[in-house]
Amino acid sequence: MDEQSGRDLCLAFIGAGEWVEKYHLPALRRLSRQQGVSVAGIWNRTRAKAEKLAADFSLPKVYGDLQEAADDPAINCFAVAVNSQAVGEILRTLAARNLPVICEKPPGRDGDEALQLAQRITATNVVAFNRRYMPINQQFKELIDRERIEFVECSFYRRQRDVERFVTETGIHGINLLEYLFGDIARVETERWKVAGSSTYNWLASLRFSSGLRGLIKFFPFAGVSLEKVEVNGRDITASVQTAHPFTDAREGAINIQKHGANGRADVEVVEQKDLEPLRAGGFEGEYLDLFEAIRKKRETVSNFQNAWRSVVVAEAVQQGAAIQL
Ligand SMILES: NC(=O)c1ccc[n+]([C@@H]2O[C@H](COP(=O)([O-])OP(=O)(O)OC[C@H]3O[C@@H](n4cnc5c(N)ncnc54)[C@H](OP(=O)(O)O)[C@@H]3O)[C@@H](O)[C@H]2O)c1
Repeated sequence: MDEQSGRDLCLAFIGAGEWVEKYHLPALRRLSRQQGVSVAGIWNRTRAKAEKLAADFSLPKVYGDLQEAADDPAINCFAVAVNSQAVGEILRTLAARNLPVICEKPPGRDGDEALQLAQRITATNVVAFNRRYMPINQQFKELIDRERIEFVECSFYRRQRDVERFVTETGIHGINLLEYLFGDIARVETERWKVAGSSTYNWLASLRFSSGLRGLIKFFPFAGVSLEKVEVNGRDITASVQTAHPFTDAREGAINIQKHGANGRADVEVVEQKDLEPLRAGGFEGEYLDLFEAIRKKRETVSNFQNAWRSVVVAEAVQQGAAIQL
């Protein structure tokens, strides 16, 4: 039910790119009956793409322009998945209704816009940083919350990914995941150097969290392996989580925990994530379930504009090879 009117949730969808087709609309289709949620219509700058998705996913309406979607009296929620350069203007138009919204990452074109949007969007909201919603990462958080962690290292590697904004568009997931696991990042110092024969860099960022925890994050877009991994160390414990995505070489997510055990032996525990429905394993259902439950129970969401803007600021500093204190 919607927090304001008690009606079932009914969304207007903004955007019709690859991510919408592969993840958002399939996740919504799976959840719609169980959650009492429907999509009233879709708008996209290029209408033909919205028409195709409306036909593929049986959506009743293609809006003629953004304002028509924004004004639709049938809806009580927005979902937005467009390019980061366009998201701010679209959200400012939609914000006039003050309805709940789920929005793809990154939450703005830069740190300034992300902060402005965090102040402007006051209704229940989710920023779709899907790593926070992956069950294997949530399980890892539960495990390490019970331990005293003294150092964290995140490896964010791709193969042959020669893109201009690697950290601010993609690596930001690693930064945001660390903030989910360990709280706000307070200080960053970055070293970056060119990858020979490419237009991109390798980045090494030394982190200090508000809690005092030390960490390191490595962005290597031309590594030999496509990998997302977080490793923690504490006294007598080393633990890691590795997640699986369509673009990583690992096909299943896994947690590995090693502890100094009795008689000097290492106690090893491995938790593998097998046979989970891909939309669930990838966190795509979790993003929507968090939004729906937060609306119904009037509680905060796991990932939102209010806790996401800092990740944008950190990502910008790392991308530029700069140091920053927040
Ligand atoms: N969670 C993840 O791991 C992940 C992975 C990939 C992407 N994403 C996010 O998902 C979102 C969509 O990504 P994508 O891969 O589908 O493609 P994309 O190229 O990032 O975005 C395409 C969408 O943005 C729209 N758009 C671009 N410029 C616009 C403008 N000036 N005004 C209005 N609409 C505009 C496009 O409309 P047209 O069709 O008219 O061009 C299309 O609907 C992005 O925010 C991206 O960061 C997330």
